[in-house]
Amino acid sequence: MAFPSLSEVRSIPRVTVVGAGNVGSALAKRILDRHLADVVLIDVVAGRPQGIALDLTQAAALEGHTHSILGTNDYDDTANSDVVVVTAGKPRQPGMTRDDLALVNGPIVMETVRQALARSPQARLIIVTNPLDVMAYLAWQVSGLPPRQVMGMAGVLDAARFRAFIAMELRVPVSEVSALVLGGHGDLMVPLPHHAAVGGIPITQLLDTGTIQRLIERTQHGGAEIVNLLKTGGAYYAPGAAVATMVEAILRNRHTILPAAAYLQGEYQQQDLYLGVPCRLGLSGVEAVVELALTESEQAALTRSAIAVQAQVQQAMTALGAKSMAVVG
Ligand code: LAC
Repeated sequence: MAFPSLSEVRSIPRVTVVGAGNVGSALAKRILDRHLADVVLIDVVAGRPQGIALDLTQAAALEGHTHSILGTNDYDDTANSDVVVVTAGKPRQPGMTRDDLALVNGPIVMETVRQALARSPQARLIIVTNPLDVMAYLAWQVSGLPPRQVMGMAGVLDAARFRAFIAMELRVPVSEVSALVLGGHGDLMVPLPHHAAVGGIPITQLLDTGTIQRLIERTQHGGAEIVNLLKTGGAYYAPGAAVATMVEAILRNRHTILPAAAYLQGEYQQQDLYLGVPCRLGLSGVEAVVELALTESEQAALTRSAIAVQAQVQQAMTALGAKSMAVVG
C-alpha cells in the first residue's frame, strides 16, 4: 500500500529554487540541512536538477533530512511555492561588463519570474542572479507583486564575508563578529565599520584605520577573489548559506534584521530602485526597511553605489525595451 505523501497530510512549506548550478544546488542542500521546507529544484538542462535531487534524496538517509526534494524541468511542478529563489543565469565571462551581463541575464530572470509566479502567485521572491540589484528591479517589474514580496540576496553574503575577514584578522570566532554591508552588490558596496563589532566592541576600537580599510576592500572584492582562485565559476557555499538564512527568516516568520536588496521609496534618500539596506524579514517578506543614521561619508558612499545601480537599471530597461516588461498573467 502507498501512504499519502506528507504534504498531502499537513501543510509543508515549499521553496522553489530556479537554477541547478552550484549556488542553486548548495542552497537546496542548506534548506534541507536546516529542515526548512520541501524543495523543488528546476533548471532548463534536462537531467541536472533530477540528478542533484536524487543525490540529495540519498543523502537524506545519512543526514537526517526530513523534507523532500524534487528535480524537474517543468514549472508545473513548482506550483504553490511559498518562496521562489532565482539563481538562473550566466556567470560573467572574462571581458564582460556588468551592463553586458544585465542584458544576458535580464531576459532569463524575467521569463523565470513569469513562469514561476504563474504557478505560485503568492510567493515571496528572492533574486540571486547578477547583476543582483538590477535583476531584482527587473524581477519586481514583471512580477506584479507588492515590492515587499520581492527582494535580492547580497547583503547577507557581503556581511558574512566582512565578518569572516574581521574574525581572521583578530583570531576570534566568526560567530562573535557582527557586521553590516549596504549598497549595491558590486565594487561600490558600503561595508560599515562603525556597525561592526566583536562581542559588542566596535572594530574601530580593535583595529587601526589602515587594517579596517584593507578588510573593507577585500570585502568589496570578495566575490572576485573566489572567482580568481577557482578559475571556473564563483562562490557557492556562502551564497547558498546566505539565501538559506533569508528563507529561514521568512518561513519561520523570525522578524530578523538582515541586509537585503529592497525596493526603496525615499529611504536612504533613494527612490524607485533596489539597493542593499537593513530589512526586517518575516512571513510577508520585507516587513520594514530599517533606516540607520549614516555619517556624511557613509551616505555619500551609498549614494555613489545607488547612482551606479540606477544607471545600470536605466541601461537595461532601455535595451530590453518596454515590451519585455509586461507583467505576469
Ligand atoms: C558572489 C556572487 C554570488 O559575490 O555574487 O560571490
